[in-house]
Amino acid sequence: MRHQRKVREGAAMVSRVIPVDPFDLVIFGGTGDLARRKILPGLYRRFVAGQMPEGARVIGAARSDLDDRGYREMVGEALDEFLPKSARDTKAMKAFLERLSYIAVDATGVDGWRDLGKAMREDVVQAFYFSVGPSLFGAIAERLHKYKVARPEARIVVEKPFGRDLKSAKELNATLAAHFDEHQIYRIDHYLGKETVQNLMAVRFGNTLFEPLWNAKYVDHVQITVAEEVGVGGRGAYYDTSGAMRDMVQNHMMQLLCLTAMEPPTRFEADAVRDEKLKVIRALDPVERSNIVRGQYGAANGHASYADDVDNPDSRTESFIAMRVDISNWRWKGTPFYLRTGKRLKARMSEIVVHFKETPHSIFDEDAGRHANVLAIRLQPDEGMDLRVTIKEPGPGGMRLVDVPLDMTFADALGPEAAEVPDAYERLIMDVIRGNQTLFMRGDEVEAAWAWTDPIIQGWTDRAERPLPYDPGGAGPADALMLLHRDGRRWREIAV
Ligand code: BG6
Repeated sequence: MRHQRKVREGAAMVSRVIPVDPFDLVIFGGTGDLARRKILPGLYRRFVAGQMPEGARVIGAARSDLDDRGYREMVGEALDEFLPKSARDTKAMKAFLERLSYIAVDATGVDGWRDLGKAMREDVVQAFYFSVGPSLFGAIAERLHKYKVARPEARIVVEKPFGRDLKSAKELNATLAAHFDEHQIYRIDHYLGKETVQNLMAVRFGNTLFEPLWNAKYVDHVQITVAEEVGVGGRGAYYDTSGAMRDMVQNHMMQLLCLTAMEPPTRFEADAVRDEKLKVIRALDPVERSNIVRGQYGAANGHASYADDVDNPDSRTESFIAMRVDISNWRWKGTPFYLRTGKRLKARMSEIVVHFKETPHSIFDEDAGRHANVLAIRLQPDEGMDLRVTIKEPGPGGMRLVDVPLDMTFADALGPEAAEVPDAYERLIMDVIRGNQTLFMRGDEVEAAWAWTDPIIQGWTDRAERPLPYDPGGAGPADALMLLHRDGRRWREIAV
């Protein structure tokens, strides 16, 4: 306890809001689910934090026939629905809504574009958020130029799915590149906006302690788990054509893998960081069939099965995947990375766990056992880190060793403010306005990730492979456990 208090004093949180320039942010799909659930609540929070200067405006653009008042009402309802009560302040919400306006725009037609052009200001940052399906990216990008809506330095923001294979990703990249330079394109992977994911870089590159040990000589293996308790919910139609590999591994898990495995970039800057991530993706070995386990949840505990959720009794799509990934480079050759993600598992838990090797020789009796350090970076929930170290079990009776955690839960160490981790979207949208692409994916990165993913998916498609069934509320199919047992290792338990 005394120790914790000390840490808290030493590390008092400095709440620092870096101002941004005035901006016009246009949200295409401004009445859609993502805008209502994430983008607008995120902007409201930034407004409350004092990060939307006087000249900052948000323009909703969609097909619906609404006026400013109707749009503000709709957004007001969304804020009520998606913000926790503690974050809602009537006065602040009213002031925020006054920053919003609405223009009805036909993404593939002519209506509304000239009005949108007139509404844009010359002397502020311009950002266009494509919160729409990828099939509309091309039409919108083209019209932004044709109707002289976007200034030459405007930024565009696009969301996943960024293609469903290498071919479609290349086509999308080419479509955007026809109208915008790479430095204007912000491809969001919301995992990169998570505070704890950024913390991974701080831990690796802000401490001398870990980096010398961060390689195949000292690391036995790495486990990356993103477990979800929820099923596919109302997104069955999308998910069934995607599956865990496309939905989570190609993007979010790949980013976590890259940040864990990459070489130190020379600076924390967009291209320096993205160059290093790209090198990791290019060094990934193809994955053999025996190193992949696919699963699909069945019905249990009053929950429908996956097949029922997606309304496709014959679905062969995986809602769970576990795989062993090997990286062929000097740093990691011989140290496997095990990835695991799935829906309807025991708990919502995401973590990156670095298992260090045992000491080369034990000076203690056999009874003391063999021990190894483990560094767990908990991404969610309960953000924090713990490092397992080996110590002597107190008391008489010889030298017995025991592993204990050096626990650092951010909320304990940094005070209650740290428990209020900002949503990934808040951070990422502000980075767009600041013009900082460090936490966004570059086109070549996305393509390289698909180039690695495609043959894996092709393999099981060619074999018409069925995923293994698993019971909801567990850790996926038993074969996923075997994937590690086989190598003399064990998954960490999925628990909160
Ligand atoms: C999305 C996936 O990108 O990420 C969803 O499409 C998944 O299927 C979600 O549930 C997980 O995000 P988070 O932030 O809840 O871990």
